[in-house]
Amino acid sequence: MRQGDKIYVAGHRGLVGSAIVRRLRESGYGNLVVRTHAQLELMDTPAVRRFFDEERPEAVFLAAARVGGIAANDAYPAEFLHQNLMIQSNVIDAAWRAGTKKLLFLGSSCIYPKHARQPMKEEHLLSGQLEPTNEAYAIAKIAGIKMCAAYNRQYGTNFLAAMPTNLYGPGDNYDAETGHVVPALMRRMHEAKEKRAAAVKVWGSGKPRRELLYSDDLADATVFLMERCDAADVGEFINVGNGAELTVAELAGEIAAVVGFEGLLEFDASRPDGTPRKLLDSSRLAALGWRPTTPLRLGLERAYADFLKGARHA
Ligand SMILES: NC(=O)c1ccc[n+]([C@@H]2O[C@H](COP(=O)([O-])OP(=O)(O)OC[C@H]3O[C@@H](n4cnc5c(N)ncnc54)[C@H](OP(=O)(O)O)[C@@H]3O)[C@@H](O)[C@H]2O)c1
Repeated sequence: MRQGDKIYVAGHRGLVGSAIVRRLRESGYGNLVVRTHAQLELMDTPAVRRFFDEERPEAVFLAAARVGGIAANDAYPAEFLHQNLMIQSNVIDAAWRAGTKKLLFLGSSCIYPKHARQPMKEEHLLSGQLEPTNEAYAIAKIAGIKMCAAYNRQYGTNFLAAMPTNLYGPGDNYDAETGHVVPALMRRMHEAKEKRAAAVKVWGSGKPRRELLYSDDLADATVFLMERCDAADVGEFINVGNGAELTVAELAGEIAAVVGFEGLLEFDASRPDGTPRKLLDSSRLAALGWRPTTPLRLGLERAYADFLKGARHA
């Protein structure tokens, strides 16, 4: 991928897509093509083909997906499976038909088996049963990896796949029910602080361990991969993490400190815990020369500043 290339960022208003657009603009990539969901329904195969025929992007970042936290994944498995399969199949196939030189498909660390050895290496894919609460989503993402690999093998494309760990950052979904753990807790703690509530509920036992990556760090990794690596260097897919993990209880404590919530944290064991531990082995990406730079506290402070900006405009 080079400056001047026409680059399509699918899902540019999302957490990941918006970070990728910021990162590309900062680096001087000026020929970006974007479409909102209302302008282009990525589940609509003829519309996606027409768009690629007209625009013929040289590079594609595929960051559009149906995404959600544990509760949303558990409640809407049919939608998560169907929508993600449709979006990614349409975009990957249309990119190949339009002669796109390079594509990066974004998946997630939930592709790994529930009891995968930790830290999880790329070769642990499909080595055991998936976590039931996000199985539908994981199956769709695994299909996306395999689709890129199959197109590379059969058609000689240069389509990469990156599997980031849990992300957080500006533009996140701050809904207390459907959001991921960081933005959902941020909202609940912020509201509890405003109402001077004595306690906030944290879903699950607080014991699962999680790795977190700031969205701008992920965006930096995706641009690094698109600029410097080919499918042959990366393999079927590559992990993108930061190597550090903490318990949900510790994370809740960090968020409370950033938000300034001084009440109690009550762990609600009636809510699902999800996978007990999820730490990626990102040594393959490190060996290629990329490392994250944003410490958790700084990332949380930036995310909270963004949340406050949104809350003021709401
Ligand atoms: N967030 C995380 O913690 C995390 C972690 C690991 C991996 N990832 C991966 O990163 C990618 C992006 O996630 P995200 O967190 O940025 O999600 P997000 O904030 O929900 O953004 C997804 C974007 O896709 C768009 N979109 C969804 N369905 C669409 C459709 N049918 N047609 C057109 N556009 C559609 C959405 O537009 P509307 O909102 O208008 O529908 C939104 O702009 C996903 O592949 C996800 O697996 C995310």
